[in-house]
Amino acid sequence: MAKSSSCTSLNSFFLISSILFASYMISSEAEANPPELNGLSYSFYSQTCPNLETIVTNHLTKVFQQTHWQAPALLVIFFHDCFVQGCDGSLLLDGNPGERDEPLNRGISSKAVKTIDELREIVHKECGRIVSCADITVLAARDAVFLSGGPYFNVPLGRRDSLNFSIEEAKNLPLPYNTTDVTLKTFESKNLDVTDVVALSGAHTIGRAHCHTFYNRVSPQDPTMDKTLAKLLNSTCPTTYSRNTFPLDFTTPQLFDNKYYINLINHQGLFTSDQHLFKDNRTKGLVEAFALDQTLFFQKFAHAFVKMSQLGVLTRNQGEIRAKCNVVNDERSVVKSFVDEIVQLPN
Ligand code: HEM
Ligand SMILES: *[C@@H]1O[C@H](CO)[C@@H](O)[C@H](O)[C@H]1NC(C)=O
Ligand SMILES: *[C@@H]1O[C@H](CO)[C@@H](O)[C@H](O)[C@H]1NC(C)=O
Ligand SMILES: *[C@@H]1O[C@H](CO)[C@@H](O)[C@H](O)[C@H]1NC(C)=O
Ligand SMILES: *[C@@H]1O[C@H](CO)[C@@H](O)[C@H](O)[C@H]1NC(C)=O
Repeated sequence: MAKSSSCTSLNSFFLISSILFASYMISSEAEANPPELNGLSYSFYSQTCPNLETIVTNHLTKVFQQTHWQAPALLVIFFHDCFVQGCDGSLLLDGNPGERDEPLNRGISSKAVKTIDELREIVHKECGRIVSCADITVLAARDAVFLSGGPYFNVPLGRRDSLNFSIEEAKNLPLPYNTTDVTLKTFESKNLDVTDVVALSGAHTIGRAHCHTFYNRVSPQDPTMDKTLAKLLNSTCPTTYSRNTFPLDFTTPQLFDNKYYINLINHQGLFTSDQHLFKDNRTKGLVEAFALDQTLFFQKFAHAFVKMSQLGVLTRNQGEIRAKCNVVNDERSVVKSFVDEIVQLPN
């Protein structure tokens, strides 16, 4: 008895000291926002569209009151846009097929894609056609985070919209079935480091997933999974083809908080790619640190979000400012581009 209790306290001593060590290592990194890339700026529209951010926030506040699930839907659109050919609005383009037809993008909500174009319409009415769909996508995701209870942070702007999209690159999106080893390599190829990966995975504190994305842990039953969660998943997903969904963070599904990490420690992660972060010795300490300190998670999330938001951006005279987010501008129509140019002048 005495032996087992001293053993427990020794274990918790090691746990606490390893957490403290992990937090020390993290906070000694630079805290400032990542430097802006050439062409992007935190004050890009301050003269030409000073109300841009207020317009986006006000409209989304209304949208989320009606349809709270659009917050996670907009956040994942940001990720899938930026990860494929950069943050250039390529995911928004209709195609036959387009990026959204790639199987890994099938969960992307076409309603949330429409919300981005609604925002574009309101913004262009006020400021003219000077704000890109790529920038609106980033702002919408930033707002989705803080309107769900997460951190508020500034994002650099000035992205332009792509003239094309890439189905091939969309096949490189990370898979929920893969282990941390694979996930880290996927993100490393975009210059996102271990801390970025663990922090960004915390986006899975809101939103939901379809059965086929986690069925590999339902059947065969993953014996390491918490039994309560295992039962719930088993009854939600009779087969992998079931259309049902389950919350990514079933403890607080609509709140952007650090419960995702606490769930991982409790063996209540949904995807293999989530739960394995608490196994791999490069990421386990970070999971513990974020579970212990939500402020630290918020800091690291904001930092990684801004980094991701600068992936492969088009700036200055590259690409275009789309008049509608789902189609490239028709450059063949002289009349139309003449009208576009007039609209483009800031008041
Ligand atoms: C680490 C690698 C990642 C993997 C393997 C992954 C995989 C997935 C999968 C399979 C889904 C469910 C899709 C569906 O069934 O419709 C999902 C949902 C989601 N993911 Fe990720 N994801 C990753 C990283 C990220 C990142 C970096 C973000 C954003 C910063 C993010 C944000 C989300 C959100 C918000 C949802 C919920 C979407 C909704 O409710 O509509 N994920 N993810
Ligand atoms: C899209 O356009 C860019 C810039 O012109 C080009 O480098 C890229 O190869 C194009 N991608 C596809 C898939 O056509
Ligand atoms: C990632 O998961 C997929 C699907 O389960 C699997 O086919 C693939 O081999 C995994 N990738 C690696 C590098 O292990
Ligand atoms: C899952 O449900 C099936 C019946 O649908 C049942 O046979 C099986 O025992 C359940 N497994 C768990 C772990 O609850
Ligand atoms: C992680 O584990 C591997 C073997 O599983 C070991 O070789 C390595 O030294 C460990 N790294 C750390 C930082 O503990």
